[in-house]
Amino acid sequence: MSKPLSRLLRHEQHAFLARDRSAWEAHLARIRAFLGEGLQAADPGRPVLVLGAGSGLEVPWDQAPAATVGWDAEPWSRLRTLLRHRRWVPWIFEDATGALTDLEATVRRAVMEPWSKRRRDPATAALRLAGLLPSLQPRPVALAAWIAVHRPGTILAANLMGQFGVLAESLVEAAFAPASPWVADPERTDPLAEALEAWTARTVTAFLETLAASGADLWLVHDRAVVFSGGRLALGDWEDPWTRQLRAETGALEARDALAGVDVRTALVRLGLAVVGAERWLWDLAPGQRHLVEALRARPTRDQALRNP
Ligand SMILES: C[S@@+](CC[C@H](N)C(=O)[O-])C[C@H]1O[C@@H](n2cnc3c(N)ncnc32)[C@H](O)[C@@H]1O
Repeated sequence: MSKPLSRLLRHEQHAFLARDRSAWEAHLARIRAFLGEGLQAADPGRPVLVLGAGSGLEVPWDQAPAATVGWDAEPWSRLRTLLRHRRWVPWIFEDATGALTDLEATVRRAVMEPWSKRRRDPATAALRLAGLLPSLQPRPVALAAWIAVHRPGTILAANLMGQFGVLAESLVEAAFAPASPWVADPERTDPLAEALEAWTARTVTAFLETLAASGADLWLVHDRAVVFSGGRLALGDWEDPWTRQLRAETGALEARDALAGVDVRTALVRLGLAVVGAERWLWDLAPGQRHLVEALRARPTRDQALRNP
């Protein structure tokens, strides 16, 4: 992984840990309980993989079988886990999506003329990037290779899927800085934003396809949506699209899709897995920013699907 990418992940991790966590207790209790259940249910005779292990804030490592491996591309995550849990966990520092290096190179090509090394004007570069992104096909090569060699019985994805789009946006913004890559007028379409959203959807889908092909039990927790509007919210039935799951009891709902339109439950079923557990909760991440968190448990069989958990 390149230095700028490592720096970006470090920056994101630092920002995550530096937030005021006073309102996080309910979220932390639920995510730790969910991931803890996954770790306890895992076959201790087979490897267990924790993707997006981070510093272990959300991962109850004391419940992890001995053969549990952490996976996080952030360079300090393993050491932070040691400090938090007093456990030196075997670790993989690769990009779990396999998509970031290509994205980074493509952004660089769009921002700068390769022959003169001169920066293009931001509007031209943004259009050029929007035109290049559709040719990128994310493939989680390192993840698939690790799975093929180690054959894990259980894989946990600990709140990283919702980060794929955020990281991609940060990467693009950093390359364009101090200019903004986005169309400022909200009434106009933004080709780059649309192309990046489509890239994120392909990345999430390829990641899920790799997990589904692993044959492992899956415990996946991720942001489904980010809500910016205030006021009371009610959770409706599980529905695809997710927008039907959230109801603002007062005022209008202002929310953003964290997964670029991919409904993980629907995708897992399409990939032949049985979704055998599903829960959701709201996480008050920061003032004016609530996340709809989704926790799904899936097995590699169609028979045990709970269609209405
Ligand atoms: C919201 S944090 C989750 C925190 C973590 N579960 C914990 O308990 O501290 C997302 C984590 O996913 C990692 N991550 C995001 N994208 C990644 C990628 N493409 N490959 C590997 N790790 C990634 C980040 O470095 C970060 O640690």
